[in-house]
Amino acid sequence: MKVAVLGAAGGIGQALSLLLKIQLPAGSDLALYDIAPVTPGVAVDVSHIPTAVNVKGFAGEDPTPALEGADVVLISAGVARKPGMDRSDLFNINAGIVKNLIEKVAATCPKACVGIITNPVNTTVAIAAEVLKKAGVYDKRKLFGVTTLDTLRSETFVAELKNVDVSKVQVPVIGGHSGVTILPLLSQVHYVSWKDEEIEPLTKRIQNAGTEVVNAKAGGGSATLSMAQAAARFALSLVRALNGEKVVECTYVEGDGKYARFFAQPVRLGKEGVEELLPIGPLSAFEQAAVEAMLPTLKADIELGENFVK
Ligand SMILES: NC(=O)c1ccc[n+]([C@@H]2O[C@H](COP(=O)([O-])OP(=O)(O)OC[C@H]3O[C@@H](n4cnc5c(N)ncnc54)[C@H](O)[C@@H]3O)[C@@H](O)[C@H]2O)c1
Repeated sequence: MKVAVLGAAGGIGQALSLLLKIQLPAGSDLALYDIAPVTPGVAVDVSHIPTAVNVKGFAGEDPTPALEGADVVLISAGVARKPGMDRSDLFNINAGIVKNLIEKVAATCPKACVGIITNPVNTTVAIAAEVLKKAGVYDKRKLFGVTTLDTLRSETFVAELKNVDVSKVQVPVIGGHSGVTILPLLSQVHYVSWKDEEIEPLTKRIQNAGTEVVNAKAGGGSATLSMAQAAARFALSLVRALNGEKVVECTYVEGDGKYARFFAQPVRLGKEGVEELLPIGPLSAFEQAAVEAMLPTLKADIELGENFVK
């Protein structure tokens, strides 16, 4: 199994590379790529950790050597938010970066599963889909927006608020990955009962959790360490699934189109990527209204990505 990280010298990329070096199954290959010249050094650095994962680093303009033979490609290349910016402010720079990198994926490892971390995820995933489609290699089972950080935050904040064991908390998060498009399904959390007045503030906190980090870092970037853990969790789930296990994760995929072309929802992962779209389950009245309210934003975000490639 070969995993490639594109953007590997960045805040997310370095921490993600570390987590993968420690946790990928023995015998895996890990390729680290970034335009930054430090990248081969990042690879040498993590290669000194004694695990049976073979690491190589690549810098420069061309990601091709890192992508050759890749089964999983994780993309965190791009710029991150500063205070006062929302994720859509990143579009102008990151759209072009994702487009170029996906063109190389299409040419070099068209059958790989691709997880997009680069924001705005609602839009960059649509860009990736259109680029792969144009190249004639799009397989919707194999393209993912990594929304796992919304799940991690939901689990943490629910456990904090309700004073329950965080390891037992599971929260499906559906929709997209920005502001109102992030919808934690609190009504589906087991073993927790809610007061009506708790739902809205907690939902808002989860939706704005990224901004909490951006503001706390005061110009020094956005979530990197928690995001790396989220991406590692997603990537390791994907690797387990590609190796034959059945694994469930919430992720932003092209589904049945009931709500929007791309929608984050629980999916069962298998040997070819998405094996089955799982039901979203019953929604509370609050959640139903929130889904309706997010759709114009989500659909506009998706359309922006589609039009960028046309
Ligand atoms: N999906 C999520 O939940 C989530 C959460 C946090 C951040 N993000 C996004 O992840 C991205 C990366 O964040 P970060 O904090 O690691 O940023 P960062 O600035 O620390 O790192 C980005 C890296 O990308 C590299 N890069 C830029 N252009 C490149 C190219 N063409 N090819 C290869 N590498 C390139 C840079 O050299 C840098 O090392 C941002 O877009 C951010 O918004 C997503």
